[in-house]
Amino acid sequence: MNRQELHAQYGPKLVCPLPGPKAKAAVAADSRLISPSYTRSYPLVAKSGRGIRVTDVDGNEFLDFAAGIAVNSTGHCHPEVVAAIQKQAAELLHISGTDFYNEHLTNLAERLSAVAPMPGPHRFFYGNSGAETIECALKLARYHTGRQQVISFFGAFHGRTMGALSLTGSKPQQKRRFSPLVPGVTHVRYPYTYRGCTGGAEEQEAFSLACARYIEEKLFKTVLPPEEVAAIFIEPIQGEGGYVVAPDNFMRELRAICDRHGILLVVDEVQCGAGRTGKWWAVEHSGVEPDMVCIAKGIASGMPLGICMTRAESWTGFPAHTHRPSAETLFPLRPRWPRWTSWNARASPTRPAWASSCSSGCAAG
Ligand SMILES: Cc1ncc(COP(=O)(O)O)c(C=O)c1O
Repeated sequence: MNRQELHAQYGPKLVCPLPGPKAKAAVAADSRLISPSYTRSYPLVAKSGRGIRVTDVDGNEFLDFAAGIAVNSTGHCHPEVVAAIQKQAAELLHISGTDFYNEHLTNLAERLSAVAPMPGPHRFFYGNSGAETIECALKLARYHTGRQQVISFFGAFHGRTMGALSLTGSKPQQKRRFSPLVPGVTHVRYPYTYRGCTGGAEEQEAFSLACARYIEEKLFKTVLPPEEVAAIFIEPIQGEGGYVVAPDNFMRELRAICDRHGILLVVDEVQCGAGRTGKWWAVEHSGVEPDMVCIAKGIASGMPLGICMTRAESWTGFPAHTHRPSAETLFPLRPRWPRWTSWNARASPTRPAWASSCSSGCAAG
């Protein structure tokens, strides 16, 4: 197949100039009715999706290399995910997992425990979003350690609720006119070796190590007593910060600093976790074992779910009523994870993979 043929079969298919008439109308209605704070970059008005393909309201087809915003980890409308949602919706639409018990919560906890990046036993907190898992980690870290201060990084994005926003270090417009935020957050430099130094591998290693050492050698010796620091929050790969990978030696040094001072290491895997880097969790590439992992987005491939995965010993106290999500997501679980790679690879524009792979409608591959 040559390039033109490949493009004709698998490329985007445009039926009108963009945005089309229906998309224009939807954008106009949106600008009248919806919060102007949303961050729309271009006028895609999505109607349906299958695998990597998204079709807009005018019938234009696009390839979604962003998986939504790193959410549809198994592709759009993976048939196993859709079937699980349909089954659960018919069985039980809602029960608050914070007020009552539900087997799905423990089933998923056990399966996540088996792939956790730190040794067990583990304990889990469920919420609806990434920001909620960050709020949980922040409150839990303070409660467990009895300390008030936390460290996070310039370039970090941890969400927009007040606690998560306080940790975020990305754009001034995210914080402008919202102060006072949660006090006790110190931002430090992320080891962005590409921007931070011009030399080769050796210089980059020294630079990233220096970024970690700054915490102990400068901050802790001048303005921030280490025994008051509850946690260090880090994205092992900064997302909004520019897809920047924290070097292994930096992550190891961070772990060592935390160990020396009784500080919890919290990794925000909301965007980089759930299989996106070839391992379950991005932090695993460095071999570092965190104390808490904040999970959302791709873990539920389109359903709203946030999870704070912790070492069980991090829950000193934290009795009933201390913290709970605003409403409890009841994510319908399947006995196995959907197979995202095979489904995405085989989803063709003309014939969805599940149509041919299995008569019962599952993408068994
Ligand atoms: C690394 C990271 N943490 C936290 C969040 C907040 O997640 P949510 O938008 O689900 O609240 C995001 C969202 O983009 C994120 O990328």
